[in-house]
Amino acid sequence: MQPLLLTPFAIFKLFTIILALKLQQIPALSLSLCRSFCGNIAINYPFGLDDGCGAPQFRHMLNCTDDLFFQTPSGIYKVQSIDYDKKTMVVYDPAMSTCSILQPHHDFILSDVQSVIIPPSQDTVFALLNCSIDSPVLNHYKYLCFNFSGHSCDELYGSCSAFRVFHLLTNSSPPCCFTGYGTVKFMSMNILDCTHYTTVFNTDNLKGIGPLDWVYGIKLSFGVPDTGCERCSKSGGTCGFDTDTEGLLCLCSSSMNSTRECAAGSVIARGQSNAPWRHIQIFLFLGVFLHMLIDVYDNLSL
Ligand SMILES: *[C@@H]1O[C@H](CO)[C@@H](O)[C@H](O)[C@H]1NC(C)=O
Ligand SMILES: *[C@@H]1O[C@H](CO)[C@@H](O)[C@H](O)[C@H]1NC(C)=O
Ligand SMILES: *[C@@H]1O[C@H](CO)[C@@H](O)[C@H](O)[C@H]1NC(C)=O
Ligand SMILES: *[C@@H]1O[C@H](CO)[C@@H](O)[C@H](O)[C@H]1NC(C)=O
Repeated sequence: MQPLLLTPFAIFKLFTIILALKLQQIPALSLSLCRSFCGNIAINYPFGLDDGCGAPQFRHMLNCTDDLFFQTPSGIYKVQSIDYDKKTMVVYDPAMSTCSILQPHHDFILSDVQSVIIPPSQDTVFALLNCSIDSPVLNHYKYLCFNFSGHSCDELYGSCSAFRVFHLLTNSSPPCCFTGYGTVKFMSMNILDCTHYTTVFNTDNLKGIGPLDWVYGIKLSFGVPDTGCERCSKSGGTCGFDTDTEGLLCLCSSSMNSTRECAAGSVIARGQSNAPWRHIQIFLFLGVFLHMLIDVYDNLSL
């Protein structure tokens, strides 16, 4: 007769244990999930600030120290905006020359991965300035130079206070060239034999607008890996990856990672390595089971 009375109590106990375990997870959850903002710039897939967040291809590219920075082999560039609809990111190199400031020469270099998944956009133009007459872009590779929206590169020497110095020294305009990122990618500034460069973006909209009013900076256009992230975010998760294997994960809470989506029942997809979660699962079941046994034992022995 006694066991019959105890059963509902044991069930109640089981619920409270599960509830307690669930509640314990909540503070940890909000603490350890991926940061979604840096200043006022939203950080969404495929980007991530914390390691293991976002797409593995974009790992170690962003750095949030007060402002958001984009890291490449040639330096750290300030991110001005990210447009997730147009899939573009505008970065600015504070060490780059512009119409109003002349700064020492340096290169713009992306890693091999970056130049594939987040290269400068088609409407970002590199202006190579003060090139020597031996520069490849004046000789064999002349065809790589172009005019955009009715503007020729020579205009920069006349319109920009920063670039007038080239004009003054030689008493004539030294060669210059508007070109695309491809040129800069395959020939470093040393090979190009130009002492300075600047970059302008949204060049399609600059017809009739003088160099003083151009927007200087680099617009990068990124690809978003199609790895089923939408499914994960729809289920309330954040797309991420295993920091050891770079295998894809759907980050559901600090104590639960799934390979696909967060909805119950889909936590482990086809036995892929999710060892920590599996251990927690087993631990949880063992804990509950043990509690029940102890309850039953306690009540029986009363
Ligand atoms: C972030 O940038 C700072 C300098 O701005 C640098 O010292 C730090 O190492 C960077 N962090 C990472 C994870 O790259
Ligand atoms: C322009 O280039 C020449 C070499 O081609 C160099 O001697 C000169 O210093 C450069 N001008 C500036 C202002 O850097
Ligand atoms: C660009 O425009 C300038 C000045 O209008 C012209 O001399 C030059 O030939 C043009 N270059 C190209 C590549 O079309
Ligand atoms: C979930 O994945 C993140 C990112 O790789 C990792 O930091 C965390 O420890 C994982 N948690 C579990 C329970 O596997």
